[in-house]
Amino acid sequence: MIQALSYVLVSTPAMTAWLQMATTLAGLEAEVLQPGRTARLRIDAKCQRFVLQACHGAPTLGMGYTVRDGDAMQALARRLADAGFACTPATEDELTLRGVQGMVHFRDPDGYRVEIAHGLRDGATPFAPGRPIGGFRTQAGGVDLGMGHTALLAGNFAAMRRLYHEVLGFELSDHASRPFKVDFFHVNPRHHTIGIADTGSGPGIYHLMIEYNCWDDVGRAYDLALEQPESIGVSLGRHANDHVTSFYLRTPDGWMLELGWAGRLIGPDWQVTELPGLSLWGHDRSWLPADKRAQARQMLRDIAATGLRAPIAPTECENP
Ligand SMILES: [Fe+2]
Repeated sequence: MIQALSYVLVSTPAMTAWLQMATTLAGLEAEVLQPGRTARLRIDAKCQRFVLQACHGAPTLGMGYTVRDGDAMQALARRLADAGFACTPATEDELTLRGVQGMVHFRDPDGYRVEIAHGLRDGATPFAPGRPIGGFRTQAGGVDLGMGHTALLAGNFAAMRRLYHEVLGFELSDHASRPFKVDFFHVNPRHHTIGIADTGSGPGIYHLMIEYNCWDDVGRAYDLALEQPESIGVSLGRHANDHVTSFYLRTPDGWMLELGWAGRLIGPDWQVTELPGLSLWGHDRSWLPADKRAQARQMLRDIAATGLRAPIAPTECENP
């Protein structure tokens, strides 16, 4: 079954702005393959974690999940076909651009491109961040955590949930019903690899989270984002479920990049719960309608009144 979210596919009408934000603000490494047309972004030793391709229409996001090997990929493709999701094999050009050994792809019920791949290669050179940061967390103790997580605003919540949970095998982590309904799912010790929200406004891309190794790097990204305050879609805060402390930056495509730190890891003894809210503190969501935003603020007051706190998971942050 699926081991991790290993890369994303960003189709954007704003390639130059994307490269600027990714490198100078977030600290990713860019490899421009065709100026103005194709680029890859790195956050660790892998040759890519984002494939950026210029487009003229609406921006899109696709997700690349990895499995153990070619046999596992073919088995999952057969399972998908049985569930009504016929897979298309990758072309040689697609394999080369992604740096993977094998890949098949299909569309999920909301139209997102989903790729099932194996053998994502390391880059030829060590990761060289776009600004001096302590890197991104993509594994823990040799276990692959993937690049982060995505959160999608579902158009067809029931069909999306069925695909990711019942067909692709994502396990439920927990769920919330206020200020909007959202289910969180995991495929490895990262608390969640996908969140599927039912806000009534989907389908749409809510955010993609990547995780710094070092807390100070979140603060420095926040400093840089504050130079254009309207670029901050969700203020600094801490999540109630994965314990990530983060803020959300609006990408040039309108959806958000969550820049976080210290996500908790979960194991086989994990128990599914209904969350008291999405955040322990902070995370003022400027995109919510006024009534939902007021409800979220009241939930923060209620949680604060209980004194609820969460431990901080140890992270590996080394000074240069
Ligand atoms: Fe998130």
